Amino acid sequence: MKRVKSLCLLAFMAIMVLVFITSSITSVEGRKHNVKKGKNTQTPQKDKNNKGNSNTAPCSSPPPAPLPRFGYYPTGSKIFDVLSFGAKGDGVVDDSKALLAAWKAACKAPGAKVEIPSEFKFLIMPITLHGPCMPDLVLQIDGALLAPPKVGSWPKSSLFQWINFKWIRNFTIQGTGVVDGQGSQWWTPSDLIYYVQKKFKHIPNWKPTALRFYSSFNVTVRDIKMINSPQCHLKFDSSGGIKVNNITISSPESSPNTDGIHLQDTQDVEIQHSDIGCGDDCVSIQTGCSNVHIHHINCGPGHGISLGGLGKDQSVACVSDILVEKISLLNTLAGVRIKTWQGGMGSVKNVSFSNIQVSDVKVPIIIDQYYCDKNVCKNQTGAVAISGVKYDQIIGTYSVQPVHLACSNDIPCTDVDLTDIQLKPSFRYRGFYRALCWNSYGKSEAPLLPSNIDSCLRRDGGAVKRTARSREHVCF
Ligand SMILES: *[C@@H]1O[C@H](CO)[C@@H](O)[C@H](O)[C@H]1NC(C)=O
Ligand SMILES: *[C@@H]1O[C@H](CO)[C@@H](O)[C@H](O)[C@H]1NC(C)=O
Ligand SMILES: *[C@@H]1O[C@H](CO)[C@@H](O)[C@H](O)[C@H]1NC(C)=O
Ligand SMILES: *[C@@H]1O[C@H](CO)[C@@H](O)[C@H](O)[C@H]1NC(C)=O
Ligand SMILES: *[C@@H]1O[C@H](CO)[C@@H](O)[C@H](O)[C@H]1NC(C)=O
Repeated sequence: MKRVKSLCLLAFMAIMVLVFITSSITSVEGRKHNVKKGKNTQTPQKDKNNKGNSNTAPCSSPPPAPLPRFGYYPTGSKIFDVLSFGAKGDGVVDDSKALLAAWKAACKAPGAKVEIPSEFKFLIMPITLHGPCMPDLVLQIDGALLAPPKVGSWPKSSLFQWINFKWIRNFTIQGTGVVDGQGSQWWTPSDLIYYVQKKFKHIPNWKPTALRFYSSFNVTVRDIKMINSPQCHLKFDSSGGIKVNNITISSPESSPNTDGIHLQDTQDVEIQHSDIGCGDDCVSIQTGCSNVHIHHINCGPGHGISLGGLGKDQSVACVSDILVEKISLLNTLAGVRIKTWQGGMGSVKNVSFSNIQVSDVKVPIIIDQYYCDKNVCKNQTGAVAISGVKYDQIIGTYSVQPVHLACSNDIPCTDVDLTDIQLKPSFRYRGFYRALCWNSYGKSEAPLLPSNIDSCLRRDGGAVKRTARSREHVCF
């Protein structure tokens, strides 16, 4: 009897030990699982429940149910991690469907966040992420988004842009991650001809923009890094209430036509505290833009900050109320520039460039109303009328020409004011060009260096001369 009793006790203890081991394994597994799902998917509440289960639940009860690996979280969590929507995150497998699914789910929840987790790379084909969504949606990019690296893998119908945000309001993109356009094949003519001819028969007139916003309002883009877009990195089109803050844009100087930020038909914009270096304009402001404030930007390499080209093919262009200040340009083609084609209509007015530092910039101050992307363009009458352009504290070094104001023969520029311009030749300057002003009316105020800037502008008559021909009223 005694022996049987002790045997029973032994068996019971063995079972207890087994049960204990099983339950601790389950709990470790559970924790591992949660870590894999990303820290944000776990509310503190759930953590507590998990611990409770492994310590106090009777051994016979089933292990805690795993969280769903796919789909909308029943817990009401506002984090929509692309990994939970089936993304692989290896940079090779196409994760577009997972991103779209996460977006669609998040779009329906107020204050939701679509998470691109760090330490993962997601290959995304051209997609449209559209609204309308519930307010305050966030796209949190902590990992990497990669565009298709081969020109041939872009669908023929989606060459305008890579990721198209459409019809969204009160939306933010943020995070410490990177948006990589992987555009190098698009920059090399021989590659482009080879891959494009195989697929598209002819070379398309445009190349994709990385992130494009269309008809979207109250959008913030901050903190992220964007690199190597096939063409433009960040574009806002027919939008408003835009804030860009603390972003980095970078592609090689040799990449043709890669703009940093491009604005078209967009109002109420603030772009600040960002570093932009690429093959073309750091910021390009096109027709239909007004109330744009750009400040605290480091620009270079690239073509500088540009308004235009405007009025191509006798089109109407309207740009007004632009303030560009506290900008540092290093080694760029232009500093601050307004460029229009001959023959256009409309107006550029109330533009202020102030506190601009230039270092070894080819031509720091440019108005070019003879803009032409070929060797020769036809002479045409009519031009986009330019008035009220203030330059104040433009300071630093140039390598080709300090000031180049080439206004239209037909429609002079008026109220062009130059104040405190201090431009010295850089080590690269070979003594070719002095300041030039053609058909530009306005006033200048010391200090002015080089000193011939003082005699460059014409003082009176511009406004009278131009009333006859200007068709700037099309902008009102
Ligand atoms: C956008 O957010 C602002 C405040 O952040 C709020 O006042 C406004 O109502 C929101 N708009 C929409 C359409 O949700
Ligand atoms: C934009 O945000 C402002 C407040 O920040 C709000 O008043 C306005 O309604 C918003 N506009 C849209 C279109 O959501
Ligand atoms: C700027 O963005 C980086 C991430 O790219 C972040 O670490 C930093 O805190 C941000 N700075 C500000 C002032 O928000
Ligand atoms: C000129 O534009 C600035 C914004 O850049 C604006 O604050 C100012 O009111 C405008 N001036 C006129 C006369 O419209
Ligand atoms: C345009 O006009 C300018 C100045 O009158 C002249 O020097 C130039 O040759 C003309 N260009 C063409 C393409 O006709």
